[in-house]
Amino acid sequence: MARIQIAGGRPLDGTVEVSGAKNAVLPILMASLLTDQPCGLSGVPHLKDVTTTMELLGQMGVEISLGDCFRVEMCARELAGDTAPYELVKTMRASILVLGPLLARQGVAKVSLPGGCAIGARPVDLHLKGLKAMGADIHVDAGYIVARAERLKGARVVLDTATVTGTENIMMAATLADGTTVIDNAAQEPEVVDLAECLITMGADISGHGTNTITITGRQRLDGYDYKVLPDRIEAGTFLVAAAMTGGRVRTTNARPDTLDAVLGKLEEAGAEISIGEDWIELDMGGRRPKAVDVTTAPYPGFPTDMQAQFTALNAIAEGTGVVRETVFENRFMHVQELQRLGADIRLQGNAVIIRGVEKLTGAPLMATDLRASACLVLAGLVAEGMTIVDRVYHIDRGYENIEEKLRQLGADIRRLTR
Ligand code: UD1
Repeated sequence: MARIQIAGGRPLDGTVEVSGAKNAVLPILMASLLTDQPCGLSGVPHLKDVTTTMELLGQMGVEISLGDCFRVEMCARELAGDTAPYELVKTMRASILVLGPLLARQGVAKVSLPGGCAIGARPVDLHLKGLKAMGADIHVDAGYIVARAERLKGARVVLDTATVTGTENIMMAATLADGTTVIDNAAQEPEVVDLAECLITMGADISGHGTNTITITGRQRLDGYDYKVLPDRIEAGTFLVAAAMTGGRVRTTNARPDTLDAVLGKLEEAGAEISIGEDWIELDMGGRRPKAVDVTTAPYPGFPTDMQAQFTALNAIAEGTGVVRETVFENRFMHVQELQRLGADIRLQGNAVIIRGVEKLTGAPLMATDLRASACLVLAGLVAEGMTIVDRVYHIDRGYENIEEKLRQLGADIRRLTR
């Protein structure tokens, strides 16, 4: 099983290109199920979750091929399947995103219930509630969600929680429904907006995306798309935190500063100098040690839960004491025990951690538990004295493209061990 080995202590310096946003790529790839016309997506990162999605779509009869320069071509001319099997769903919860498009296009879909998850219960009840409001008949049979509808009908859907993939599933389903759907308390994440923009290029009638009320009027059919995905704000944020922790200077290109307001604000509070252009962000720490910051996660435009672990690592070596509060997912602090093994002074208290920054961490073997937790362990390894080895890096490969190559390019002493 692959591991990542890091010799800590080098300040990062240089330029790194941000890849396409995983959380936008996955729903946009799934949107190819909505049409029998060819679709092409550019800027697709080479990630495990993308491969899993392609496998899933392939099983459903989508003709799919990889073009040049990170482009994926798809055509769901005729659908050959209606099932997202447990084997794929258990490795990638976002597989649930086939539910809305399949149901809208062919009137039937079967998706395995995701089951337990390392970062909490993560139910899908709101996805189902929305589709039921649109007239779908849904029941659970042998661990599978079985959904049927002759033709979905527009409805008003009020989400109890602003779920990201739930909003995406309902929005995709509504593009082919009969009449108008209004999603209230919709997620406002940039990835939801990117999906909406792509659906609009397919001829969908959508307005209000990026606000908490999205209105969709269904069409009889949609065209294909030729689209370029938005850059990954979490990957960009992760490199900037790495720069801040190591006292270095890093410029991220192909970045969208407007999607990172909450994160950049916290980095400035930590003492970083930030400059931005239209599509780049530069962070200069000037060799200083970061100051501890308090962070509370919240739906967009609040501070992203997907950056929580990285800021926990930053606070671990910062000057002062920081409190990191998690309000989106329960049980998303599995990285804490691993950071403690490096010498971090962290106390868990309910849904918060109190981190007293220490002068130095010391390298140790560590175990990654989920995607963002594994990124935080790599960041900690970059500043820990001596050698850190992060095991189970398949978690990191789900969401970060060539992370060790990109960090090496910035001057880190990091490599992948394949045995
Ligand atoms: C998406 C992102 C993930 C990110 C998360 C929150 C993708 C592929 N993944 O995950 O990286 O961490 O948003 O920004 O885009 N909830 C319910 N019932 C539901 C659905 C969700 O109670 O039916 C709750 C969840 O338990 C959680 C909250 O809503 O407490 C937000 O979850 P949600 O936005 O759905 O996360 P995902 O879409 O799974």
